[in-house]
Amino acid sequence: MPFTFKKQIFGFMDLIRFTKMVPKRREKLAEGSAEKIPATYRVNETAKILHPGYQSAKLVKITQNTADTKTYEFETDKPFYFRAGQYMTLGTNVNGSEASRPYAVSSAPGAALGKRVAFTVKKCGFFSGYLFDNAKEGDIFTVGDPSGEFCYEPLKDAKHVVAVAGGSGITPFYSMAQAIADGTMDFKLTIFYGAKTEEDLIFKKELDALGSDKIRLVYVLSDEKKAGYESGFIGADLISKYVSGDFTVMMCGPQAMYAFLDKELKKFDLPPRRIKKEANTVGVRDVKEEHYKIKVKIGFESYTVDADSRETVLVALERAGLKVPAKCRAGGCGFCHAKLVSGSFSIPGADKRRLADSKFGYFHPCCSYPDSDMEIIANKA
Ligand code: FES
Repeated sequence: MPFTFKKQIFGFMDLIRFTKMVPKRREKLAEGSAEKIPATYRVNETAKILHPGYQSAKLVKITQNTADTKTYEFETDKPFYFRAGQYMTLGTNVNGSEASRPYAVSSAPGAALGKRVAFTVKKCGFFSGYLFDNAKEGDIFTVGDPSGEFCYEPLKDAKHVVAVAGGSGITPFYSMAQAIADGTMDFKLTIFYGAKTEEDLIFKKELDALGSDKIRLVYVLSDEKKAGYESGFIGADLISKYVSGDFTVMMCGPQAMYAFLDKELKKFDLPPRRIKKEANTVGVRDVKEEHYKIKVKIGFESYTVDADSRETVLVALERAGLKVPAKCRAGGCGFCHAKLVSGSFSIPGADKRRLADSKFGYFHPCCSYPDSDMEIIANKA
């Protein structure tokens, strides 16, 4: 029923009540505790401990998983909390540039409370390539707060999660499987893990050791036929062979896998909220090389930096040694949000900006490529 506002006459009785209000309030204050209000509350202190923001992290162990994948284990300054499936931004200075990249956490949430966190990295792109070729034990990095919604939500998701992983996309599911095994999380997880060959499967031994009535593994090889493995690609028929009833699908892998699964999953007629995709970071764009200038204002300082049409605005700023906020590097979190004063840019794929952002001239430097000289206002990291 629509709310109707009734006009009321300010009456004599209201005046009486009003005069009584102040003495009544004084009475209540006098009845209250004389103890001082605490300067801080336990819940705030706990929140500060569990979400310490950017902190430094020492690389303590490197493990080679496959020919092109390594796991980097860090000891953080402070303990922190994350949900299995979330990512964190790992950053360091590479040849004078502030470089960073988000990685899904591959370790268990419980380990973070003991100041340990691990990321499993495939050798590709600028930052991952640097890690692969140059990072050594003892190096100091920064890690940001855990972010992302690629997590199990007990109120929204089915009790059974069908995880579809391609290549290094196994990392968030490995974290979830560990969390289920140690009792931190409670749901049934069937992981369909696709790779070219058996040798390309990361954490095969560790995943097999976690197998239980709650964690089931189905390995799918596309380039090799082997006993004990499914072959081909992960599609509706294969999922139906192992799974029935109500389920949520979570997928993490290359864009081509998503395109294939988008068609395949239609056969299950799942509501959109039951299909979750981890966003892929934005890479180098395949266009003719052009060079532009970006004038950027950060706080009270102004800088002019060189930009390459094939790289995002964020990469141009970082290459110039400027520190600006960034988390997902996929256009999803809005953390890098900057104002466009002049110039033009392109966004590959879907424009994930909020309506108000695009209306008032804000854009996401992490996924926007310069198409001309630009003038922008960015936030301080
Ligand atoms: S870093 Fe998340 S939208 Fe740019």
